[in-house]
Amino acid sequence: MSTSRRGFLKGVLGTGAAGAASAALPGCAPDINPAPVTDVTASAAGTVDLLVPRYPDLEPVGGAITVRVPGQPTPLLLAHTKNDGGSDDFSTVSSICTHVGCPLGFDGKDVVCPCHLSKFNPRDGSVLQRPATTPLRSFKTTYNPGTRVVSINVLGGDTSFPSVVNGQLTLPFSQFPDLRNNGSSVTGVPSGYGLRIFVFRLEDGTLSAVDSTCTHQQCEVEFNAAESDLVCPCHDSAFTRQGEMVRGHLEPNGSRLPNPPLKKFTVSETADAVIVSGVR
Ligand code: FES
Ligand code: FES
Repeated sequence: MSTSRRGFLKGVLGTGAAGAASAALPGCAPDINPAPVTDVTASAAGTVDLLVPRYPDLEPVGGAITVRVPGQPTPLLLAHTKNDGGSDDFSTVSSICTHVGCPLGFDGKDVVCPCHLSKFNPRDGSVLQRPATTPLRSFKTTYNPGTRVVSINVLGGDTSFPSVVNGQLTLPFSQFPDLRNNGSSVTGVPSGYGLRIFVFRLEDGTLSAVDSTCTHQQCEVEFNAAESDLVCPCHDSAFTRQGEMVRGHLEPNGSRLPNPPLKKFTVSETADAVIVSGVR
């Protein structure tokens, strides 16, 4: 791996993570590099606006940049393509590979991992080529050709899931009847928060809600029903449904190191709904 690639990994991930990522780079693709990094801030409404001509690495079709936004658990990869009608098109996905956490690049068509050559669709984050099996997060991105401003909504959510209002997420039993049953779960990305949340009714009837962001390198944990735990696809950390660590992440040498618990929310219920508070 080149010195510049090593330096880039440190810049994106920090020294410890860069060491882990660089150790996992036996077969770096010679012509795919992680996209160059820029730091920006989001508006209070969760929108990041970028004037395209200010970013020479983004301006040509096939260009891409890595966008770091304070408060976002992972950097974002913003890619410039053409749509079917031949117009400029921009799309945004999380920029950390879901295989073992390398920063991603763009080959002009697909999002590519320099480490083990996983490929992802830049428009929806779906996996196009293994070894990664978990999709990237995608973010609603719009482009105004008149002003040449591209806008990324970092707090967008699932249209079928309730939004966060004043830090509170209300899940009506009429929409989520399973939440009345012990041993059930509901998951979704609420607008206004922008990250996946899991809500559980445990076997003893108590409720729990946690953020899906893994506390190792910010991949998204998944609920593994067989284990009854939340498991990270990137380095196999596992957490209870209340967010406590069950096992730490795997290091390249096969050892495991502990991680902090997942972010937890306060949960209550009324006769009509489960209410998750502190969703900020
Ligand atoms: S880290 Fe292995 S393919 Fe991306
Ligand atoms: S990101 Fe490494 S175990 Fe989750």
